[in-house]
Amino acid sequence: MTVNITAEEMAKQRGFIEKCAEINSRRETPPTAHVHTFGCQQNVSDGEKIKGMLAEMGCGFSDIPEGADIIIFNTCAVRENAEDRVFGNLGALKHEKRRNPDVIIGVCGCMVQQEHIVKKIKRSFPHVDLVFGTNALHTLPELIYGQLTERKREFYVPEGDGVIAEGLPIRRENALKVSIPIMYGCNNFCTYCIVPYVRGRERSRSTEDILAEARTAIQSGAKELLLLGQNVNSYGKELGTSFPELLRAVNAIDGEFRICYMSSHPKDATRELIDTISECGKVTRHFHLPVQSGSSRILGLMNRHYTREDYIKIVEYIRERIPDAALTSDIIVGFPGETREDFEETLSLIREVRFDSLYTFIYSPRKGTKAAEMPDPVSAEEKGGWFRELLDVQGDIGRGLYEKYVGQTLRVLCEGEGRTDPSLLTGKTPQDVIVDFDGDRSLIGGFVNVKIERAYQWALVGKIV
Ligand code: 5AD
Ligand code: SF4
Repeated sequence: MTVNITAEEMAKQRGFIEKCAEINSRRETPPTAHVHTFGCQQNVSDGEKIKGMLAEMGCGFSDIPEGADIIIFNTCAVRENAEDRVFGNLGALKHEKRRNPDVIIGVCGCMVQQEHIVKKIKRSFPHVDLVFGTNALHTLPELIYGQLTERKREFYVPEGDGVIAEGLPIRRENALKVSIPIMYGCNNFCTYCIVPYVRGRERSRSTEDILAEARTAIQSGAKELLLLGQNVNSYGKELGTSFPELLRAVNAIDGEFRICYMSSHPKDATRELIDTISECGKVTRHFHLPVQSGSSRILGLMNRHYTREDYIKIVEYIRERIPDAALTSDIIVGFPGETREDFEETLSLIREVRFDSLYTFIYSPRKGTKAAEMPDPVSAEEKGGWFRELLDVQGDIGRGLYEKYVGQTLRVLCEGEGRTDPSLLTGKTPQDVIVDFDGDRSLIGGFVNVKIERAYQWALVGKIV
């Protein structure tokens, strides 16, 4: 069962923040914290809450672990290489602990929701003081207080379907582009994916809480809201509302701003959703719709609940209703049992759909998932070859794809210094395409109209009109 953390519990944690702040204020200099977040936007959002709590405890922040008083790794478990990077970085902290035995080293996030990982940290990384799971984020003040008053190793990974903790302080990474979680967890159990095991069951925040956060962000100058969830399309099912309804409500907030969202599951990308997006002017004209494979046989083994044909129908409807929409996707190469024929179905799908860009991954077995038990006869070398072939095919498709924007005038959110040239400004079009243009720095943080003059493979260049 999902647990809403009570106001009393949150007040108790606030009390621990004050106690920590009191202890820290007695130091000659304020403590510094280094928070390193790995992985997806949901983790980045959690990282902003970790930093929010630490800031209220009186901490300053450092981009490097060396010399920090508190080091926290907020980890990702989605693929093995993400976990390997965490272990590599954790190993390197051994010297830091030797140099400064008082440093508090903590590990949280998706990795530590797995028993075998916790065991490995216990055994092989004795310099780690604190391990806390995704359901224990809001208890960080109490855990830090414990470390400040009595140094003993603590492992706190509560079981359960997941919690919702409202009212945590947030230290935003970017005031212009603000992430707002709308739901947590996932119920889909795609057979390759560890997320449902480490993030618990689907649970939605109340529409009022989301709208209040959105309004405050807009009033504080945010120009882009990123609505976050593992599968935003199933927002609100247990509350008797829906993602389209939420989009309409956010779209109705006063002011010029853009609404983005991620991630979206094709099985729930309904016509109603696409109609809603076409009618809501503030919603991004970019659909990121992870297809994972072009073979219906593999999609079945992945437990994705749609076929290649279903997916193509969705794409056709998007292009009919929103002809200027950009379309991107995720693809996994080398799922257990995938044959050359299955892989060629993926190649033919991407040739047929012509995605604007792709995020491509080689399948990585995750302990505890169904796919990890399936026979997987194709060698790593062969999968590597397929992977490079996929990149080549997409490279050919991507070439010249942005030419269609030349001559168009697009509304652009100006975000900062140029990417093709730092003397220019940079921003994003409603399709999320990068565009550089000449202009005064005072324009950063606002919207401008830009006429597109040139197209590169990954960016546009234009002029303010
Ligand atoms: N191996 C490879 N890629 C994966 N993804 C999720 N789990 C795995 C895995 N075990 C990819 C999917 C998902 C993206 C966020 O990560 O494509 O859409
Ligand atoms: Fe993983 Fe599938 Fe849930 Fe996405 S929808 S988080 S791929 S289980």
